[in-house]
Amino acid sequence: RTFRIAAIPADGVGREVVAAGRAVLDALAEDSRGSDTEFAFAWEEFPWGCEYYERTGKMMDEDGLDQLKDFDAIYFGAVGWPTVPDHISLWGLRLKICQSFDQWANVRPVHFLPGITSPLRKADDTELDWVVVRENSEGEYAGLGGRNLSGRGQGGEVALQSALFTEVGCERIMRFAFDLARTRTRRKVSSVTKSNAQQYGMVLWDDVFKRVAADYPDVETESVLVDAMSAKFVLRPEDLSVVVASNLNADILSDLGSALAGSLGLAASANLNPERRFPSMFEPVHGSAPDIAGQGLANPIGAVGSAALMLDHFGLPGQAARLNKAIEATTAAGILTRDVGGTATTEDVTKALIDALDA
Ligand code: NAI
Ligand code: MG
Repeated sequence: RTFRIAAIPADGVGREVVAAGRAVLDALAEDSRGSDTEFAFAWEEFPWGCEYYERTGKMMDEDGLDQLKDFDAIYFGAVGWPTVPDHISLWGLRLKICQSFDQWANVRPVHFLPGITSPLRKADDTELDWVVVRENSEGEYAGLGGRNLSGRGQGGEVALQSALFTEVGCERIMRFAFDLARTRTRRKVSSVTKSNAQQYGMVLWDDVFKRVAADYPDVETESVLVDAMSAKFVLRPEDLSVVVASNLNADILSDLGSALAGSLGLAASANLNPERRFPSMFEPVHGSAPDIAGQGLANPIGAVGSAALMLDHFGLPGQAARLNKAIEATTAAGILTRDVGGTATTEDVTKALIDALDA
């Protein structure tokens, strides 16, 4: 079958890594031709992003969501450029898609690859492997609040930024996390909050967690405050399997996780609409990296790992596994970009990944 994918490279290294991911996926599809499990990808690329904004005053077309809604998936690069305020670019494109398409589950594996030194003591220990499950539709990124513009510029302005927690929103992300834990060797879910200081929404979160956990007696649980959890990521990572957290907390923890695994450039993510009413979106965790953009230095592995998550979503787990094996073979062979201590370019790594598909 043919999968229709909307590619949105957007800004900076987003463009370089999306091109790399497309090349690797096309090589996979090419390889399947003539076999009885033949599949193909039909790509459409959208020019949205900061440059588009500077030209048109919009981060994406007015009817952009309509243009996207019938695709099988969205393959996203990264949005943001120094010429446009970050809250405008992020809300105008990435968060707009996530929220409008109800991509409420953001899955971010923290994966340790062979041949890459981790700042963790247990460097190169490929046994370390956990997943951050991020509530992706509400919490601290609900967009609720405002600024008291009447006081602006007089030193007395007040701004309010509220977090939204609903029972339905908490329950669905927790069930998602527990179901995921059941597919893993270690059946454990760690719930993260700051419910000692944030006494409404996060206490609701804790209550729902206890209730949902009762339905999964075969899954081990713990509740950890976010500050303690960030220490645990560094000091006792072998104790983690599935970590479920609110939008902001999981955002921060997943960057920490990918840095511990060796680089932000390695981390993959999936923004899922589990009901499949809307397309899901697959993107590397990192941003547009203006400091290295356009120089062939971007690590494509986060984007390629995200493509593997997309293949899983398409019901092609064998192909996803093949892609992940190719990633491991490439890092194990020492073909690494600068962020992980190598000298290879984005293109070198992409080529090595394609060659490794056959290994
Ligand atoms: P960033 O993730 O772009 O960069 C942080 C550091 O990681 C930089 O030193 C960068 O060179 C490095 N890095 C990132 N991706 C890399 C890759 N593939 N290979 C090698 N090194 C890599 O985060 P930063 O600098 O905070 O944000 C830059 C822009 O990206 C901002 O406009 C921000 O709003 C946006 N952003 C967008 C995201 C998205 O679209 N999902 C996520 C995070 C940030
Ligand atoms: Mg982030």
